[in-house]
Amino acid sequence: MSAPLTQDNIVFDKVEVKYSEYVYALRGVSLTIARGEFVFLMGQTGTGKSTLLKLLTREVKPTSGRVLLWGREIGGLPERDVPALRREMGIVPQDFALLPRKRVYENVAYAMRAIGATRREVRRRVPEILERVHIGHRADAFPHQLSGGEQQRVAIGRALINNPPLLLADEPTGNLDPAHSWEIMEILMELNRRGTTVIVATHDQMVVERMSKRVVNMQGGLVVSDVTPSDVSAEAITQHVTAGWDDEEPAHEDHPILEPEPPEEFEGPIPLDEEDLEPEVPPHA
Ligand SMILES: Nc1ncnc2c1ncn2[C@@H]1O[C@H](COP(=O)(O)OP(=O)(O)O)[C@@H](O)[C@H]1O
Ligand SMILES: [Mg+2]
Repeated sequence: MSAPLTQDNIVFDKVEVKYSEYVYALRGVSLTIARGEFVFLMGQTGTGKSTLLKLLTREVKPTSGRVLLWGREIGGLPERDVPALRREMGIVPQDFALLPRKRVYENVAYAMRAIGATRREVRRRVPEILERVHIGHRADAFPHQLSGGEQQRVAIGRALINNPPLLLADEPTGNLDPAHSWEIMEILMELNRRGTTVIVATHDQMVVERMSKRVVNMQGGLVVSDVTPSDVSAEAITQHVTAGWDDEEPAHEDHPILEPEPPEEFEGPIPLDEEDLEPEVPPHA
């Protein structure tokens, strides 16, 4: 047992999770993730990736072993402390979970209001957050007017309202085509470069292979390999990402493995219904 239990690590220490008599989701996982790392949890469906993330959000408690978040044991945290724990992390759901009748701006604004932000904070922060996930130009759009990749950007934006030091994404590209998947990964990488620890569960081999990041491979509730590539410098990744954003070239351009993105079909503006016309937090007020 040598896991460094410092303030700067997330530590899974011989963690087992048993959902029932017959279902072991994790069979003794030991894993250390340092502050500021970008880590993929990779593996087939059913190997325990989501369970590992749910241990951090405390949706799941370890059956045995310990889970430490920056020096705190969270496996045994009292229920009353769980909401505060969750406010320390951004959680990106796979299905976006946006409010369908709210505009992009309002989707983020409502989440902020829900955690007690003042209107002033909302007005200041929402545009900033939308820029950070490159969706500022669609602030007034409704979710159904956005592509899957754009909706996912809004979902990531919403996960950033607390400025979380830790971002957890469970299959964030699960519903996206390769080009949009890459876009999402670029955003996650930029957040990571700004200091956010990012943990991404995915079974998308192609995304992982192109990213040159640490990959923790899981199989049957166990970590079977843990590889941090050393062949790509952080600087090279930075340059690639910046180039992709600045000139708005398709991000997949220098990655011929990806199919070209098909033209997007926008249905155009849809008629508003009563509820949509309710006075709400005005965008850009
Ligand atoms: N709430 C639950 N109740 C019972 N079994 C579960 C539950 N959640 C997950 N499992 C089982 O635990 C195993 C690991 O699941 P999961 O962590 O979701 O894996 P992954 O995210 O890699 O697909 C699977 O066999 C799954 O069926
Ligand atoms: Mg899963």
